[in-house]
Amino acid sequence: MTLLQVRDLTVNFDTADGTVTAVDNISFDLGRGETLGVVGESGSGKSQLVFGITGLLAANGRVTGSARLEGQEILNLPDHKMNRIRMEKIAMIFQDPMTSLNPYLRVSDQMAEVLQHHRGLSKRAAITESVRMLDAVRIPEAKARVTMYPHEFSGGMRQRVMIAMSLLCQPDILIADEPTTALDVTVQAQIMRLLADLQADFGMAIILITHDLGVVAGSCVDTLVMYGGQVMEKGTTEGLFARPTHPYTMGLLKAVPRLDRETAQLETIPGNPPNMMDMPAGCPFVPRCEFADERCWNERPELKRAEGFKTRTRACHRSLEELA
Ligand SMILES: Nc1ncnc2c1ncn2[C@@H]1O[C@H](COP(=O)(O)OP(=O)(O)OP(=O)(O)O)[C@@H](O)[C@H]1O
Ligand SMILES: [Mg+2]
Repeated sequence: MTLLQVRDLTVNFDTADGTVTAVDNISFDLGRGETLGVVGESGSGKSQLVFGITGLLAANGRVTGSARLEGQEILNLPDHKMNRIRMEKIAMIFQDPMTSLNPYLRVSDQMAEVLQHHRGLSKRAAITESVRMLDAVRIPEAKARVTMYPHEFSGGMRQRVMIAMSLLCQPDILIADEPTTALDVTVQAQIMRLLADLQADFGMAIILITHDLGVVAGSCVDTLVMYGGQVMEKGTTEGLFARPTHPYTMGLLKAVPRLDRETAQLETIPGNPPNMMDMPAGCPFVPRCEFADERCWNERPELKRAEGFKTRTRACHRSLEELA
C-alpha cells in the first residue's frame, strides 16, 4: 500500500476580496523511504500544500480532495487525531527552527516531554534517548549540550536540534519546508547530507520543499514543479534536469549553476509570480512564457504524460518540438 496517496488536493482561502485558490488539484504518491522534492517560486503554494495535508492551515483556509496515509483518510481529521499523526507519523521541520522550539525550555525538557508523552518513556530513559538523537544529528558533546536552551545553539546547530526533535517518534514521513534557506551554503550542504544519512538509517520518506532546484538535485529522486498552486511538471529529478518539458522548469533550470555546462551567466525568469487573486483563465505561467499563444491564455492545460516519456507528466499545450 502506498504510504501517502494525495488526490485532487485543493486549498482555498476565504479573504475579504474573494476566494484564493493556493493549491489547485494536486495529486501525488509517496512510497516508504522515497524522497519527493517540491519546487517552485515564492507563493507557488508549496507550504500550503503540506499544511493542507497536515491540518495546519490558517483559520480562513479549507482543504478538499483526499490524502490517505497507509490507506486511512487524514484530511480534516479532528485536532486530537491530527496532533497524534503529526507527532508520530508525519513530522515537519521548518525554515526557522525557532517556530518549533520553545525558547524558554531547555532542549532536554522539550525532547523528553515528547518521548514521555508519545512513547511512554520514563524521564530518565527519555533523556538518554534525547542524547542519542542529538548524537544522531551530529551535535558535538550531545550529553553536555542537551540541557542548553535553544538560543545557546548556533543557527545550523539549532536546525539539527529541530531535526532531532522531529525524529523522536520515528515518523514515517519527514516534511522539510525550506530547511536550509536561512543557513549559509556550507551549513546548508551539511544539513542536506545529514538528512540523507538519517533517511538511510531510519528509512523515513521525505518531502523536501524548496525554491531552489539545485537543492533537490542532490537529494530527491522525484520532483514536482509547482506554479500558481498547480503542478507544471513532475518526474524524476535526474530526468527533469536532463530534459525539462515545461517552459517554467526550463526557466528554473537556467537559474541553477551547473558544473557540466559552460554558462557565462545565470538567468532569472522575467516577470513576477502570479497574483493569486487574479489568475489567467488558461495556464498560470502564460504571462511569463515565451512560447505562449492564444490557447495558452484561454484554456487550462491538463497534466498529462509527456510524449515519449515513461513517467513524466506535464501541463503544457505546446508540443516538445515547439519548445526545442
Ligand atoms: N491565510 C491566508 N489567506 C489568504 N491567502 C493565503 C493565506 N495563506 C497563504 N495564502 C496564499 O497562498 C499562496 C501560496 O502560499 P504558500 O505559503 O504555499 O507559498 P510558498 O510556495 O510556500 O512560498 P514561499 O517559498 O515564499 O514559502 C500565496 O499566494 C499566499 O498569499
Ligand atoms: Mg513556503
